Amino acid sequence: MTEATMTSEEATRATAVQAKAAGKTLLKVSGLKVGYGGIQAVKGVDFEVREGELVSLIGSNGAGKTTTMKAITGTLPSGAGNIEFLGRSIKGRGAWDLVGEGLVMVPEGRGVFTRMTITENLQIGAYIRSDKAGIASDMERVFVTFPRLRERKDQLAGTMSGGEQQMLAMGRALMARPKVLLLDEPTMGLSPIMCDKIFEVVQTVAAQGVTILLVEQNANRALQLADRGYVMESGLITMDGDAKELLRDPRVRAAYLGE
Ligand SMILES: Nc1ncnc2c1ncn2[C@@H]1O[C@H](COP(=O)(O)OP(=O)(O)OP(=O)(O)O)[C@@H](O)[C@H]1O
Ligand SMILES: [Mg+2]
Repeated sequence: MTEATMTSEEATRATAVQAKAAGKTLLKVSGLKVGYGGIQAVKGVDFEVREGELVSLIGSNGAGKTTTMKAITGTLPSGAGNIEFLGRSIKGRGAWDLVGEGLVMVPEGRGVFTRMTITENLQIGAYIRSDKAGIASDMERVFVTFPRLRERKDQLAGTMSGGEQQMLAMGRALMARPKVLLLDEPTMGLSPIMCDKIFEVVQTVAAQGVTILLVEQNANRALQLADRGYVMESGLITMDGDAKELLRDPRVRAAYLGE
């Protein structure tokens, strides 16, 4: 689309996307390869996430999205390539260590502590911090973002619904004050109404200034929310660009939007 054919709203958004894309790089992945035994799941990917951006990574089942996220966050050893966070190599660093630096992932399947209460789960999110007042105010902010969690704060996490557990997992990640938040399929297995709620919350959290890398099966919603996007296929990044441009791309529409 040329600038002349954009509405003013689209032009404002495009300007904001360009400004963020020119900002400070927080996460930079180059030539990353990750394998499981003899199987190469990620075959040399390059991408970056800049301060304040919401970047969506889309791709079909088995494309290597989760593997990429796990390698970045140190839950899986990476092979060739580099991973830089805040300008320094983090290759080989452990997940717990990286959470302390602000690289925080909400994994596929959520991983909440089922036998602990909502409040206890949120407190664990802040385990790396010692600023009691800051922790208390962040917990209050999480409760404002997710009123359901406040209502259920003394309930055991394992008795919450799937969508509530997703909210808890996101709330717990926010308690670590992430500089980059990685979300792996936050809407997986949820009802349409709960998916709407989760996407709304992702948008709220992004608007609060948290930089987000979002992996989603729902390419349409993910690209609608994002500033920029990457498409991953069979372990490689095959397309990237302004999320709205990707949404209009006939190849993306054919492969991921069922057209
Ligand atoms: N623990 C494992 N051992 C062996 N192979 C694995 C393992 N985990 C993932 N793989 C393989 O690596 C490839 C990439 O998987 P990955 O989970 O990263 O895909 P994905 O893009 O996240 O898919 P989905 O959208 O289904 O979550 C797949 O072929 C998968 O079978
Ligand atoms: Mg996955």
